Amino acid sequence: MSERNRPIGILDSGIGGFTVARQVQKLLPREDLLYFGDGAHIPYGNHTRETVAALARYMFDFLERRQVKAILAACNTISCVVDQCPASCPVFSAVQAGADGAARLGAAKVGVISTVLTHNSRIYPEKILAQSPQTRVVLSCGCPDLARMVEHSLGDPAGMDRVEGELRRELAPLVQEGVDCCVLGCTHYPLAADRIHKLYPRLALVDPAEEIARTLKTYLERAGLENPQEKAGTLTIYTTGDVAEYTLRARQVGLERVAAVEFHPPMELRSGG
Ligand code: DGL
Repeated sequence: MSERNRPIGILDSGIGGFTVARQVQKLLPREDLLYFGDGAHIPYGNHTRETVAALARYMFDFLERRQVKAILAACNTISCVVDQCPASCPVFSAVQAGADGAARLGAAKVGVISTVLTHNSRIYPEKILAQSPQTRVVLSCGCPDLARMVEHSLGDPAGMDRVEGELRRELAPLVQEGVDCCVLGCTHYPLAADRIHKLYPRLALVDPAEEIARTLKTYLERAGLENPQEKAGTLTIYTTGDVAEYTLRARQVGLERVAAVEFHPPMELRSGG
């Protein structure tokens, strides 16, 4: 297979990366996508860095064996350890995309909500302050349970009400501090963007999904690697979790041209990770 015809790999701990796949389908409709969600081990944000790096290497290896031409780390938590995951193709990070999105807005006071691991790594404040001269303060907040709640509540009004309650609790301190925008530093959170808009209609949101899809497009164009096929590309989803749940979630998120949803065995974790 010529390099241009190879698929793009997208990975996440769960269905959060569907928000990235959705943007890539919009912007690059001819690309074939392989998605890998590690439903067996979600939430990553509460594991150690070492465990997340090991799980991420397992997924990178899976995608590389399928000859992807680029990998999107559609998970901010994995993006924190991406330097520990060698790959033979270019890797694009959700955190870099989030920091680029914040820099584009040029806000003075930036809020970030993310998983606990991403928050503890301080990767967002460091990156945003380094690349956005207008930004004076970055306030980061780690949410222990939000990603898991979103993963299992989509399409369930009572569950999404609980997500909204959690969002209010986590975001209120940032809004009280007067942040000009908030980076959704976990790819699951854009799936609850309507609830955030309802709570805080004037709060501008940065969704790394849009930025990472744009960056990928620019890369493919410059490298001459856009898929030349005439027909629209397909999306094949692999999960270590529940195939029926992923099939339903893909539909709820609005993913198109899903060719198959298949189970793949998870990496075995020793206890304590
Ligand atoms: N979607 C993932 C992220 O962007 C994390 C969810 C999890 O904790 O597994 O960080």
